[in-house]
Amino acid sequence: MKKQVKNNVSWVGKVDWELEKFHGEEYSIDKGSTYNSYLIEEEKTVLIDTVWAPFAGEFVENLANEVDLEKIDYIIANHGEVDHSGALPKLMKLIPDTPIYCTANAVKSIKGQYHEDWNFKVVKTGDSIEIGNGKSLVFVEMAMLHWPDSMATYLTEDNILFSNDAFGQHYATEKLYNDLVDQCELYEESIKYFANILTPFNVILRKKLDEIIALNLPIYMIATSHGVIWRDNPMQIVEKYTQWANDYQENQITIIYDTMWNGTKKLAEKIAEGINLADSDVVVKLYNVTKNDENDMITEIFKSKTVIMGSPTIGSNILHSMAGFIHLVKIMKFKNKKAAAFGCYGWSGESVKILNGLMKDAGFEVISEGYKNQWNPDLDAENEAIEYGKKLATL
Ligand code: FEO
Repeated sequence: MKKQVKNNVSWVGKVDWELEKFHGEEYSIDKGSTYNSYLIEEEKTVLIDTVWAPFAGEFVENLANEVDLEKIDYIIANHGEVDHSGALPKLMKLIPDTPIYCTANAVKSIKGQYHEDWNFKVVKTGDSIEIGNGKSLVFVEMAMLHWPDSMATYLTEDNILFSNDAFGQHYATEKLYNDLVDQCELYEESIKYFANILTPFNVILRKKLDEIIALNLPIYMIATSHGVIWRDNPMQIVEKYTQWANDYQENQITIIYDTMWNGTKKLAEKIAEGINLADSDVVVKLYNVTKNDENDMITEIFKSKTVIMGSPTIGSNILHSMAGFIHLVKIMKFKNKKAAAFGCYGWSGESVKILNGLMKDAGFEVISEGYKNQWNPDLDAENEAIEYGKKLATL
């Protein structure tokens, strides 16, 4: 059922309460998600985005109950990714000639996925279309936020920015607006979304945020494509994004490790103890990489000033769990973060050196040669690990 957003703008999307993973298996979902689609009924009728393909049938059926599909004058595809374009094939079977407004890159991504030559109308930043009653839709390219094809659409007079993925959260709710949901949950899902999806594009994001702010558009609402609509102080999320996009960090040190016979785990705990002894203000968090959610750990790294990675040596190398996780860390292109390494070993002891190399390659400033311990840590080794933690807290 459609829900009124403001005046003649309605939400016609899908709340996906059961979603567990997103982007294949890459992004863990804790609280479901939504695929937000919007219907504007002025003199012209406009549909902004659709929903993910598994919900295409119910989306088109519900939409047809709300509006005569033949009356849809324009479809706006802000982004070609399947969670927003997935209902186009079903919809376009019913209204094949309806123009689809999108960027040149979105023509490529939509054609590349559905192999259909629909009536695409390519738009660029600043282009607009009149929709009657003195209102128009203005397009703003958002390339690399987070795909080359992304754009946002601004509805004049109602002053709503349809931002697509930007400013979104994977957060299922029947409530439409940011002021109607639990604020802690909203913050957690917003920062996780930013850390895991937008961090690699920080440089581009900074420029784009400046560009949006410089436009000086009155923005009464930011209607994203996932989660809630920002209506209460909508610029709060733009301000947060500005902060997060500027090599964000808090006073936090995060330790991430894997262990075979608990020796490396013991070192991890002692390093945490040492950090806290040296600086009781710093937040220390410790995660076993195999027992914690990878995306949550990425969010913790995003918040950290220093990251300490641990692995025992196996086969003259590190555990594959750590290698895989550091690969994910590298994709995030974190900047302005320090790193150090530790690990137990029985024979050759290469893990610390390898971890240092991987962290450097991932863009971290390695601040120590690392700490390694042969066999299980005894009391002396535990004390050395505490001292190592103390040292890292001061670097
Ligand atoms: Fe980039 Fe929500 O899709």
